[in-house]
Amino acid sequence: MTRLLEVKSLEGGYDSVQILYEIDIHVDEGEFVTIIGPNGCGKSTLIKTIFGLATYYRGEVSYRGADVSGMRTDQLVNMGISYVPQVDNVFPSLSVIENMRMGGNKLQPQTLSDRIERSLEMFPDLRSREFDLAASLSGGERQMLAISRALISNPNFLLLDEPTAALSPLYQQQIIESIDSLRQVGITILIVEQNARLSLARSDRGYIMSNGKVVHSGDAQRILTDPEIGEYFLGSHDDH
Ligand SMILES: Nc1ncnc2c1ncn2[C@@H]1O[C@H](COP(=O)(O)OP(=O)(O)OP(=O)(O)O)[C@@H](O)[C@H]1O
Ligand SMILES: [Mg+2]
Repeated sequence: MTRLLEVKSLEGGYDSVQILYEIDIHVDEGEFVTIIGPNGCGKSTLIKTIFGLATYYRGEVSYRGADVSGMRTDQLVNMGISYVPQVDNVFPSLSVIENMRMGGNKLQPQTLSDRIERSLEMFPDLRSREFDLAASLSGGERQMLAISRALISNPNFLLLDEPTAALSPLYQQQIIESIDSLRQVGITILIVEQNARLSLARSDRGYIMSNGKVVHSGDAQRILTDPEIGEYFLGSHDDH
């Protein structure tokens, strides 16, 4: 199994505000890995530090064996990593197709249109909305667009931050299934999710964060069925 991402003793934050402490995580090629944890524990900061969008302090971040710690976002994109942010992940005043083009503005026109076509095949709901403003999309369609845009750079590794937040249960399911299906085209997934049960059900492994640290890791099914973890981190089965 090929180690795609290896993070060891990573510390990071925002300028002088340290948020992350001694983070150890890894993702192997082809895996679907979920990070869960309470609000404010540092999940987004971890993804952003890996992707060059928060302040890297120290520790190891390697991608396919190469040291990428503290590397710039555009360089990471060139290496095959892409990211779907938690908020503001589409440009509302641009059309669906313009948003997709923004994901590949350095590509040759033919490559760009081939990639857009591939994204539209993956998310057929967007095809009839191609020329509509992103502002007019539903929450679920917006997430599909955000994911589509992240795919335009043809990544091998996709980082997603709460793609099902604020969506109806039907859309949550659909989005997670779409993300899972990306594995069939060779994309490895690292996802942060509040809908822990939904995402872990599709995952190989999971990490649980609390107060800027990883406090538990393991097989996703085992996390789902561990009564102590369930009580603290997953919410009860019958809470809705
Ligand atoms: N730009 C920033 N500057 C300084 N502190 C920040 C910044 N963004 C987030 N923080 C702080 O970092 C901590 C971790 O935030 P982060 O967004 O990583 O949490 P999270 O686990 O993603 O939470 P949520 O589940 O609510 O999205 C919080 O205390 C937050 O207030
Ligand atoms: Mg977050």
